[in-house]
Amino acid sequence: MSTIAVTGAASGIGAAVCKHLEAAGHTLIRVDLRNADVNADLSSSEGRQAAIEQTLSACNNQLDAVVACAGVGVTAPSIGLIVGVNYFGVTEYLNGLEDALSASGKGTAVIIGSVAGSHMVATPHPMAEAMLDNDETKARQMAEEFGDPAAAYAASKYAVTVFGRRKSVEWGKRGMRLNIIAPGAVETPLHQASKEDARFGEAVKNFVAPMGRAGIPDEIAHGVDFLLSDKSAFVNGSVLFIDGGMDAMVRANKF
Ligand code: NAI
Repeated sequence: MSTIAVTGAASGIGAAVCKHLEAAGHTLIRVDLRNADVNADLSSSEGRQAAIEQTLSACNNQLDAVVACAGVGVTAPSIGLIVGVNYFGVTEYLNGLEDALSASGKGTAVIIGSVAGSHMVATPHPMAEAMLDNDETKARQMAEEFGDPAAAYAASKYAVTVFGRRKSVEWGKRGMRLNIIAPGAVETPLHQASKEDARFGEAVKNFVAPMGRAGIPDEIAHGVDFLLSDKSAFVNGSVLFIDGGMDAMVRANKF
């Protein structure tokens, strides 16, 4: 059985991931703002470093897997927060745990991206490039100046997917794996808040997958189960769309 850190463990997809992994007998280190084993704020560098320190102490510097679920949506209190949590809250945390993942001999990670990230492939927004340059101040500033939470969300998910794919090349050579899940709409508190938002509610409600419904958190957790298991031993750097066919509908000729 494995020791696995899960961020965003207190709600939605992260909570479902924890339920599945715990039922399979794994030892979990739950990370979230509150109600977790590691209570930390992944939107700031201090918070991320505290999360890394406490995670390393909880796993004794040897970790089998990380599932990075923590994220905020378009209703976040500030646009900069979207960049801070969805990109830097994933990348700084994962970078800080790299050696512990390597120490386990088979470190694996799954990043929860979004189908929204794939819509930016042709012309990535400059704020995504600032994220990939690891320049948090610039990326946050550009996101705030551009003033569109939906663009910041898509840019953060695009950038974190590119980060994950680049990292998987490095990790593959060290016997480690990293994959990304790109969910479509999933019934969680984040999705509910987006549907109720005066600015984005209509668009979110109209963003319906060919299958005619939103997903449920368990359907994303099943993907995580697979990507952390030996059944996916040769799967590395992949983006697994769990979106009811949304990505295929929007860009069938891009894969
Ligand atoms: P949720 O709101 O139910 O759960 C997100 C969790 O992240 C919460 O427990 C929250 O406290 C935690 N979190 C937020 N900011 C944090 C911070 N600064 N530090 C530590 N923890 C923090 O949302 P949901 O839907 O479960 O989202 C999980 C992931 O799935 C997110 O990355 C989201 O972008 C992604 N996603 C969700 C979709 C959906 O339709 N629900 C669609 C595509 C992607």
